[in-house]
Amino acid sequence: MKRYLDAAASKKTDRPPIWLMRQAGRYLPEYRALRQKYSFMEMMKTPDLATEVTLQPIQRYGFDAAILFSDILTTAEALGARLTFVEKKGPVISNPIRTNDDLRTLNSQPISEYASFVYQAITQILPEIAKHNVPLIGFAGAPFTVASYMVEGGSSPDLKETKRLIGNTPKLLHQLLDKLTIETIAYLRGQIEAGVHAVQLFDTWAGLLSFEDFKTFALPYTQHIVTQLKTDYPHIPITVFCRHSTTFSPLLCQLPIDVISLDWQTDLHWAKASIPDHIAIQGNLDPGLLLASHDILTKRVKNILNTMADRTGFIFNLGHGVTPDIPIDAVKRVVDVIKGY
Ligand code: CP3
Repeated sequence: MKRYLDAAASKKTDRPPIWLMRQAGRYLPEYRALRQKYSFMEMMKTPDLATEVTLQPIQRYGFDAAILFSDILTTAEALGARLTFVEKKGPVISNPIRTNDDLRTLNSQPISEYASFVYQAITQILPEIAKHNVPLIGFAGAPFTVASYMVEGGSSPDLKETKRLIGNTPKLLHQLLDKLTIETIAYLRGQIEAGVHAVQLFDTWAGLLSFEDFKTFALPYTQHIVTQLKTDYPHIPITVFCRHSTTFSPLLCQLPIDVISLDWQTDLHWAKASIPDHIAIQGNLDPGLLLASHDILTKRVKNILNTMADRTGFIFNLGHGVTPDIPIDAVKRVVDVIKGY
């Protein structure tokens, strides 16, 4: 329990804790076996199944933290997005928000009622992970990233429709972001009250914004959430992850966050010199290197460990999530190298 929480509090640890974003997922044979019987949505919304999947990577690898098995689009669905997950395509939202009328048709349910399956899952996971002595990380999508799914109607490589709103009807986008911000605070508050030990905000797509637009459409909303949570729950560590965010990380470090999760493009020497000492660093192995030979993979993991050896407050992770094509042995190798360090 202590190793992850100590590192997140920028305290000394015997070795860096390790967990991986998307550690519960399709690269695991035991996950795929369950997925033959249930859809992703069923798994997420059935507390028994969500509990089982949350535990799978802990049982197989002995990671130092568990992350709740769920999805960032829970807040979108609670706000009224009609969400499905399509095989080989990912999330699809059939009522995209592009006009004031679209926004008005959103039919939201109070998140405290809507997300009861999440809170129930947390309640069931806690006694199980206590047996492994690891903390549970709760999470939510940051407003910009969730809004981008609601505007695009799914994943988009360039956020064309979202940028169309930025350039034409920024007020509409701000209204959606406001709604999501209120929703996200309530949702994370619910997770904390249910017992998660830490929370992480995922702003995967904000890295596609210009510096100016990041400061206008992403940062203030993330700031609002972390400031509110820090006021209400000062002891709960908050991590912010934003892909392609090297340029934005100095801005994020001005917020009352505990951990910044860096993607693989960030030079860790630069990070050590630039990220203030009271903020722990999480990252940042290129997930693509999990396809490397074990010799090269070992060397690259050790490079990160050596670089960060003199930094108090370091959590080993990937620069983004594990993908379904990753061999299970590669993940074991990474864990072994870190545990043997
Ligand atoms: O990290 C974990 O193991 C916990 C669970 C988790 C999932 N999604 C499970 C999931 C977390 C933390 C997420 C976050 C998430 N979801 C993000 C932010 C992090 C990131 O990866 O950038 C985003 C952008 C989403 C939205 C999302 N959900 C997409 C784009 C997809 C499809 C991509 C894909 O891999 O198929 C999902 C589905 C999803 N979320 C799966 C899992 C395990 C795959 C579901 C399946 O088909 O079994």
